[in-house]
Order: sequence, then C-alpha cells, then structure tokens
Amino acid sequence: MNESTEKFFFKNKNYFLRKTSTNDHPFIYNLVKEFLETDLSVTVLTLISFEEFFKKKINRYTISNDQNDLIGFVQILENNEIGYFLDKKFRNKGIGTEAVSLLMKLNPKERYFATVNNKNKPSKKLIERLGFYPKATIYEKIVNS
Ligand SMILES: CC(C)(COP(=O)(O)OP(=O)(O)OC[C@H]1O[C@@H](n2cnc3c(N)ncnc32)[C@H](O)[C@@H]1OP(=O)(O)O)[C@@H](O)C(=O)NCCC(=O)NCCS
Repeated sequence: MNESTEKFFFKNKNYFLRKTSTNDHPFIYNLVKEFLETDLSVTVLTLISFEEFFKKKINRYTISNDQNDLIGFVQILENNEIGYFLDKKFRNKGIGTEAVSLLMKLNPKERYFATVNNKNKPSKKLIERLGFYPKATIYEKIVNS
C-alpha cells in the first residue's frame, strides 16, 4: 500500500491519520496561516511562502473523518517537537487529543515536547492531558522599530 494512503484509525474508528501528500498542502498552509493571524503563536510569527513552507520534509499526518473530509493535521519534527492544528468546526470534541496520542504511538520516542503559548488554553489542556508538563519559559522582548 502506498504510504500516503495508509489509514491509522483512532480508537473510535470515526477519524484517522494519513501521511500527508502534496494535495493536502493548500489545506495545511491555510490552517497555519489562520493560526499565525491569532496571537497564539510563540516563536514563529510570520508565514513563509507556500513553496518554502513545504520544502522541508516533515513527518506530518492529516486528520480526516469518516466522510474523508480533511479536518486537521499533526506533525513531529526531527527534534521531537510535536504540532497539532484542527479546523475550527472540529475543535473541542477530543479529536486533537486523540490525534496527538496516535501520532506518538506511530512515532515512539523517549521524549517529546511542544511549544505552547500560555494564552492557548485548548492547547495547554490537550498537551497536559497527555502527560506533558511545563518545563521552561520563553522570554520575548519587542523592540519598536
Ligand atoms: C489546540 C487544538 C488542536 C485542540 O484540539 P481539540 O480537538 O479542540 O482539543 P480537545 O477537544 O482534545 O481538547 C481541548 C480542551 O480544551 C478545552 N478548551 C477549549 N477552549 C478552551 C478555553 N477557551 N479555555 C479553557 N479550556 C478550553 C476543551 O474544553 C477541552 O478540554 P476538555 O476535554 O477537558 O473539556 C485546537 O484548538 C486547534 O487546532 N487550535 C488552533 C491551532 C493550535 O493552537 N495548535 C497548537 C499550537 S501549540
């Protein structure tokens, strides 16, 4: 089976992860764009071009429902940092927690981390529920130009 078509189902079987393909790129880019328009990002503050964004090979999976709709994505970087993004319509249903849990199952590591803005309550709840604990504080100084 082609890697990008293999489905990894959630426990409830209503949702699944699948390795992303280039067809998913516009959806992914749009979710990241929307996120960067909020004040919830931490270190990445500007959106690079579509081409640059997908140049780097990242271990990324889309989240779909049983209608095959794209509803979000999760990823794990080489340094074991995980990321998770859901379409607004599908938030607060526990999907994010299940998706990250499955992502870790598919990519077993001794240690994972996530960078989460203190203001991002849903993200903090999700990650802490999965056993992560806050470890450091990121300092920022904004210099007016
Ligand atoms: C972060 C995100 C993936 C969470 O996914 P999700 O499927 O909604 O998460 P879950 O439903 O599994 O859990 C969210 C929890 O946050 C809670 N929550 C949601 N909004 C909240 C708020 N404003 N204040 C406090 N808690 C909140 C929910 O009640 C839920 O907790 P509960 O199950 O104990 O009730 C989703 O909100 C998202 O895509 N956000 C935009 C992208 C983003 O922030 N990514 C993370 C970057 S670090």
